[in-house]
Amino acid sequence: MPDWIPVAAASDCPPGASIERVADGRMVAVANVSGTYHAIDGLCPHQGGPLGTGALCGTTLTCPWHGWQFDVTTGRHRMSATVRQAVHEARERDGTIEVRLADPNAPCGGRPG
Ligand code: FES
Repeated sequence: MPDWIPVAAASDCPPGASIERVADGRMVAVANVSGTYHAIDGLCPHQGGPLGTGALCGTTLTCPWHGWQFDVTTGRHRMSATVRQAVHEARERDGTIEVRLADPNAPCGGRPG
């Protein structure tokens, strides 16, 4: 089981916000949905846009480059069932946001079914 990796102060990502961070060399988009943190791979599969810098509305994160939208709770693209980002565990501990990266070698890159 991979370790939890501190990526940001909780104050950097208030409810309704998303941020971009690098965890163990992997770009991660962290989103705060009503006080619950979610994390998905931060590199947009369209053309590599920085998902974490996009706008968060509810659980939908919109890529700032061309508008592809993902559900941060499932990693699923809003319009295409075949496009999915890996989902990472995320939590807050003592004022720090931590992520635990999905296993990139697991089936579907560690993505939930
Ligand atoms: S790079 Fe994200 S929508 Fe194009």
